[in-house]
Amino acid sequence: MTLFKHHNEFAALRKSSTDKGLGLVPTMGALHQGHLSLIERASNENEEVLVSIFINPTQFDAPSDLLRYPTELEADLSKINALNPNCLVYAPQAEDLYGSSVAAKTYDFGLLNQVMEGAHRKGHFQGVATVVEKLFRIFQPQRAYFGEKDFQQLQVIKQLVQQAQLDVEIVSCPIVRTAVGLALSSRNQLLTPSAQNAALELYAALKAAKTLWQQTPYAASLEHIKKRFDQHPEISLEYFEIREETTLEIFDPKHHQHPRAFIAAQLGKIRLIDNLALEKAIPLQHANRSC
Ligand code: PAJ
Repeated sequence: MTLFKHHNEFAALRKSSTDKGLGLVPTMGALHQGHLSLIERASNENEEVLVSIFINPTQFDAPSDLLRYPTELEADLSKINALNPNCLVYAPQAEDLYGSSVAAKTYDFGLLNQVMEGAHRKGHFQGVATVVEKLFRIFQPQRAYFGEKDFQQLQVIKQLVQQAQLDVEIVSCPIVRTAVGLALSSRNQLLTPSAQNAALELYAALKAAKTLWQQTPYAASLEHIKKRFDQHPEISLEYFEIREETTLEIFDPKHHQHPRAFIAAQLGKIRLIDNLALEKAIPLQHANRSC
């Protein structure tokens, strides 16, 4: 594992490029098995892997969230080293990416930036896109790896690549969960033990939605899911929505094919998100015919 802090060191550090090329894994550190799954996949699919570790200030809408965000560079480096000792790790200060003006660009991502995380975290995706575009332009990877844990982010990045005509393949990687289903997140370590327990309800609600989706009409199942949270006063539900996964339009079985349930909730001071693909509902006459 080779650590560097200034992007202009990269040219001297990188090996000569081959067909398999460079895979980039952008992160904000405090690495867990979710991040490591991306690094592992990138290591299998590329000649060279670059992991960036940078807590990007322009994507934090709440200053307190930025201040609380965990930093553990030494532990991160040894995890990366254990997985792939040939990894390059770029862990810069803000100035190396932003110069003297730490500000987000303005992009138009349409609906992708207007709903769910876009609506609840103003400016968040502008900041994410700004830093990711910078990383893509500086390092010019052939592939970049993102987790479905942040499914809306993944769609925004794909849109960014199209709009900015960047020549990089976006590889989406499945959500890594604990044995009891909690989606791994750097923020989980900030949860109190009782909040960690309550957080399991997020995945339970998504799974319940998946089951109900096959059985009861859409509106009824949504209401049912939202009611579950009445029994969990420690969880403040921000949204629970079922949307078409690529466009993020509200799912309408007449027009859409790939329903996905999305949830965001606040547990004490910590905000968590999760999502799950739902099976396409089987039309009734179809179900009858197969009986
Ligand atoms: P961060 O939250 O550190 O996540 C880095 C990458 O790891 C993202 O692509 C995220 O979706 C993925 N990831 C996180 N938890 C995961 C899990 N449980 N399973 C699978 N993948 C998971 O997302 C960001 O950083 C930033 O917004 C960034 C893209 C680095 C831009 O600053």
